[in-house]
Amino acid sequence: MKILIGSDHGGYKLKEAIKKALDENEIEYEDYGTMTEESIDYPEIAKKVAQDVKDNLGILVCGTGLGMSMAANKVKGIRAALCHDEYTAQMAREHNDANVLCLGGRVLSEEEGIVITKKFIETPFSGEERHQRRIDKIE
Ligand code: RB5
Repeated sequence: MKILIGSDHGGYKLKEAIKKALDENEIEYEDYGTMTEESIDYPEIAKKVAQDVKDNLGILVCGTGLGMSMAANKVKGIRAALCHDEYTAQMAREHNDANVLCLGGRVLSEEEGIVITKKFIETPFSGEERHQRRIDKIE
């Protein structure tokens, strides 16, 4: 399993902090940009990550996480979850089988963003019938 990670300028710093944490934990990732703090349009990055995610997990960071989640969820098969804390990250995986984590770089500290990311990556989907049924209804 690989992580596909991307951000706009508003999420750039948090993306870089998360990459450092992934490196420290020897978790493989691919960086879809952006590579500077110059202003760019978040839907471009969201689309690239969402289209490539397949059986992997994606992480998208913008200023609030809102734009990234809206854009990523336009791609079929994507369940992008905007998470604010460990609990929402855990539920996003256990109940919603989210495959993209969205974070707000202007909302969270780097420490918070890393803790949320860790929880998201390490939590499996529960696989319970009632959750699968609800996910099937989304699809
Ligand atoms: C960019 O200023 C900002 O709008 C973007 O990062 C994000 O928060 C959009 O939802």
